[in-house]
Amino acid sequence: METTPLGLFELSPAIIQQLKRELACPFLVWYIGVSYFIFSKEATGAILLSDPQLLKFLKLQATEVSFMPRSVVSWGFVPILLLSLLASPGSGFGAQDGDAQVKSVKPGINDQWVSTDIDPLIDILEAESREIYRERSNLAALVGPPPGAIIADVGAGSGFMAEEFATLVGDEGIVYAVDINPVMLDDVLRKANAKGITNIRKVLSPEDSVNLAPKSVDIVFLCDTYHHFEYPTPTMKSIYPALRSGGQLVLVDFNRIPGQSEPWLLEHVRAGEEVFKEEILQAGFELTNSHYPPYLTENYVLRFRKPPASH
Ligand SMILES: C[S@@+](CC[C@H](N)C(=O)[O-])C[C@H]1O[C@@H](n2cnc3c(N)ncnc32)[C@H](O)[C@@H]1O
Repeated sequence: METTPLGLFELSPAIIQQLKRELACPFLVWYIGVSYFIFSKEATGAILLSDPQLLKFLKLQATEVSFMPRSVVSWGFVPILLLSLLASPGSGFGAQDGDAQVKSVKPGINDQWVSTDIDPLIDILEAESREIYRERSNLAALVGPPPGAIIADVGAGSGFMAEEFATLVGDEGIVYAVDINPVMLDDVLRKANAKGITNIRKVLSPEDSVNLAPKSVDIVFLCDTYHHFEYPTPTMKSIYPALRSGGQLVLVDFNRIPGQSEPWLLEHVRAGEEVFKEEILQAGFELTNSHYPPYLTENYVLRFRKPPASH
């Protein structure tokens, strides 16, 4: 069993909130078998842990967590430290099973997106005020699938980007519209057929896998979707084998800047560019480009690739 040194960490209010949600306990958490304890006040908090998964999670939130020197651990924590040591670190943060998350990193974020009443969802996605929709053809050109390419639009939503890609890849190419909402997918196909677009295929995915065959795609496109992944680790693990060696992963997501971004965005999008980049690197991808095109002021675009010699 991998062991992690116990430590004391100062946590930001945002992380405290996230941990409270994850662990469903406002002030004290004692997980026998997980071996960590949390004491939190409203503005700050401290955590003692011996759990590798939780430590990894906190490291990913580096901007939100200060790692305090061991010397500041007060004697008051010693009994807890001993209890923590006695507890078995068998299961990890978010009750992980091996590497596969079985607990959502953002419970409830897709509640509205799995609705069968899709008209309000389409209205949100296809609002002219939404820069992703307004700039869809520029964005598709930036992603740049060549004719004949096979591209998966994961979290395809109402399908307007799938349609843009369908034109770019042409009759020799294929666009997989992947989503967890079957009603939305049927509607994507219905609209495409009505327009005479024949190279879009629908793929209904569970929440933790993109459900694509091994080495079946050249590009995976994630637009405003990565932060909707409730189980990012297994989902990314399913994307990796679906890509051909050297295949690309293009991530488009919101600029999330504490102190600058709107409160709703800080709450809705669980982390910013650096954290998401790090998570995707951890999944085995290489960063090849960061794009900040002038026509996108609310979103960034990161381009990764699956290493060419990989399987
Ligand atoms: C905010 S919408 C973005 C839709 C579209 N990409 C766009 O930018 O217009 C997020 C989409 O991701 C889908 N989604 C959420 N979790 C998913 C998952 N694990 N796999 C595939 N799609 C997912 C939702 O159903 C929804 O259609």
